[in-house]
Amino acid sequence: MIFPAEYKQRRERLMAKIGSGTAIFRSAPAAIAHNDVEYNYRQDSDFFYLTGFNEESAVAVLAPHHEEHKFVLFVRSKDPEKETWSGYRAGVEGAKELYGADEAFPINELEEKLPKYLEKADRIYYHFGRDRTFDQTVLNHWQQLMATYPKRGTGPIAIEDSNIILHPMRLVKSETEIALMRQAADISVAAHNRAREFAKPGRYEYEIQAEIEHTFRLQGATPAYPSIVASGTNSCVLHYIENNRQMQENELLLIDAGCACNYYNADITRTFAISGKFTSEQKIIYDLVLRAQLQAISQVYPGNPYSKIHETAVRVLVEGLMDLKLLVGDIEEIIKEEKYKPFYMHRTGHWLGLDVHDAGVYQYGENPQLLQPQQVLTVEPGIYISPQIKPVEGQPEVPDRWRGIGIRIEDDVLVTVEGNQVLTAGVPK
Ligand code: GLY
Ligand code: MN
Ligand code: MN
Repeated sequence: MIFPAEYKQRRERLMAKIGSGTAIFRSAPAAIAHNDVEYNYRQDSDFFYLTGFNEESAVAVLAPHHEEHKFVLFVRSKDPEKETWSGYRAGVEGAKELYGADEAFPINELEEKLPKYLEKADRIYYHFGRDRTFDQTVLNHWQQLMATYPKRGTGPIAIEDSNIILHPMRLVKSETEIALMRQAADISVAAHNRAREFAKPGRYEYEIQAEIEHTFRLQGATPAYPSIVASGTNSCVLHYIENNRQMQENELLLIDAGCACNYYNADITRTFAISGKFTSEQKIIYDLVLRAQLQAISQVYPGNPYSKIHETAVRVLVEGLMDLKLLVGDIEEIIKEEKYKPFYMHRTGHWLGLDVHDAGVYQYGENPQLLQPQQVLTVEPGIYISPQIKPVEGQPEVPDRWRGIGIRIEDDVLVTVEGNQVLTAGVPK
């Protein structure tokens, strides 16, 4: 669990960076509803990172230059009748007592109170694009302040994207965050191991999904994303989520599933033989993907550019596909012109944390993002030889015996001072 002191420390780090600015964060929009049946609400990750507050219709304001109110929350007021229907609200008092706000107001006072926290700021920090209505609110306030700027001589002269300051903070995890990520990884490892025991010819993909999600739920976790349980040629479809096919002898099963626990995510893929034994073609491709993954993981150490991970995986995969005569020509040209893409069309991983595809950049213009201890990322190369695969011009047709094989292997990797640690090593590969 993350204690209030850690949220406070995060806010203070952010405020130290924005100096005389004011940062505004909006909660995630209300839960999606089909007619009037609502799905679970999930807080916006930036908002949650800074507040730990998980209710909708809230706005957090950080105003380091304000004398007393450096952290202000606008929240839904308490309302016993509404709370009977849709659950507890912290209310204005709770926002202060439980969440450490210096001041709190009902959300319907936002229009009136927000300008007080903006008029002396030199910048507004805000991320546009998540909530169009609220974007317009922020713009309106800014315009009104600019209209009176000549008379007052103070006010925000620009709006900057809060991501640029906040996301590098989210990218490097605290010890507490890493402990939570280990927990999500451990539950997901247990789920994959249970799924593997349960998979056999004749079972349906959704039965395996049920075993996985049963394990998640038993430990208080939920799926971090829709579980992918893809047998046979479904393994060649990257985001296959129908999970309704009956599995057959000699097929592969690709499972991409991970849980979210206390807001932190895991993301694991394993591919294995449903009958327990690979065909010779499946084994050749599996060994190649595994080699690519292990070599890519060996590139995870502090100071190494993030891009090395993908480059290493691509080179190993291309060499292997050339050995099999599935790609022909000059290796440098194949890599540079991405002629391998019909077999490998995605990147080799992403940052992992509060979001499955977590906050943080991968490259700073021409400059590389260098890996640092306490970052967490996935390493997930694959080869997908769809039955309809179309090689690029000049490359050979793919013989039938390879078609229908889709293999991905994905682990969650922590950058450590010494190198790396695979958090999901408990699932065999
Ligand atoms: N499961 C989503 C991903 O691997 O990125
Ligand atoms: Mn992933
Ligand atoms: Mn995945």
